[in-house]
Amino acid sequence: MILVTGGAGFIGSNFILDWLADSGEPVLNLDKLTYAGNLGSLASLRDDARHVFVQGDIGDAPLVDRLLATHRPRAIVNFAAESHVDRSIHGAGEFIETNIVGTFRLLESARGYVAALPPDEQAAFRFLHVSTDEVYGTLAPAAPAFTEQHGYEPNSPYSASKAASDHLARAWHHTHGLPVLTTNCSNNYGPYHFPEKLIPLMIVNALAGKPLPVYGDGQQVRDWLYVKDHCSAIRRVLGAGQPGQTYNIGGWNEKTNLTIVHTICDLLDELSPRAGGQSYRAQITHVADRPGHDRRYAIDARKIERELGWRPAETFDSGIRKTVAWYLANPDWVRGVQSGAYREWLTLQYGPQ
Ligand code: NAD
Ligand code: DAU
Repeated sequence: MILVTGGAGFIGSNFILDWLADSGEPVLNLDKLTYAGNLGSLASLRDDARHVFVQGDIGDAPLVDRLLATHRPRAIVNFAAESHVDRSIHGAGEFIETNIVGTFRLLESARGYVAALPPDEQAAFRFLHVSTDEVYGTLAPAAPAFTEQHGYEPNSPYSASKAASDHLARAWHHTHGLPVLTTNCSNNYGPYHFPEKLIPLMIVNALAGKPLPVYGDGQQVRDWLYVKDHCSAIRRVLGAGQPGQTYNIGGWNEKTNLTIVHTICDLLDELSPRAGGQSYRAQITHVADRPGHDRRYAIDARKIERELGWRPAETFDSGIRKTVAWYLANPDWVRGVQSGAYREWLTLQYGPQ
């Protein structure tokens, strides 16, 4: 089996669902169930013995050591993290604890576990650390996309904490020989995306008749990848990547935020028109910019294509249509994540709701 951390979050839950559908190999899912963790995303696995869920912290070394000794996974895929840039601006403590200290402890537990494995299992073991393009900093409008050689220039508390975790993962390979693979991916979107992030927030707010808050001029650029393509890339890297290597993953889909919001409004106009016939675009509001806002990210994903034969399957048009349709078809999931804590976050970030 494999150990997946953070498997109740957005990408982790998509990864587990696709992993079990693709290979059937059992998964041990270790997740702390922070505000971002939601077992409702894995409801279809409730009676599936191939999914074993444990609520816990990647930084709880005695727990992780016990889980490794009991379940003997052949790989660890580390998704667990605090992931929202805006929250890291309001308070970075949990980002330091989980993304840096937690990753350190997990690497140490993995190192101890691997050292005691028989040589053939040691040789086959992999630790895949899931990271982000944000570690590379921001790009000028015409600059070439980030390659794996780009220097680390993180600008937010979130990206700085992820950069630190990448450095730890690299060092545990270089110094201790832990077979680490690192992936740096661009912005994901798709089912089970927590509605604090741009795309699900815009869909959910639009349908609720609320303002669509665009930060600053809305001309910031992100490179969007459908989450199931990210999951297939991780499977590929886990299966064929070279330990010690990093792989950039992206969708070749650079879009400004305003383009994204317009696309969502236009799809909703088509699939769920507003009473009265006005476009959802009428709900767009420009609000104060994010402090330290990175202007542009873009991933050069040629290495993973050249060396591992991976390319995204989804275009942005097909992926965003599926995503909007998924949110329209799953109002219960949306209601399930709109807890008191979610409403408190909206008030803190956007003012009284
Ligand atoms: P998410 O916030 O939706 O989920 C994170 C999950 O980790 C949650 O289930 C949470 O409960 C769990 N978690 C948090 N702290 C934990 C801890 N100490 N121990 C165990 N579990 C803990 O995040 P996501 O968007 O699914 O991102 C997953 C990973 O992918 C993160 O490492 C993130 O940096 C990276 N990433 C995300 C994107 C993106 O666009 N969302 C892009 C590139 C990379
Ligand atoms: O690039 C990969 C990263 O993408 C991941 O590492 C992060 O975990 C993930 O959260 C995401 O970070 P971003 O900051 O790019 O995503 P977010 O959805 O928060 O914002 C996308 C863009 O939209 C960004 O330029 C800020 C803007 N935005 C966001 C929100 C929530 C708005 O204009 N209004 C909003 O209300």
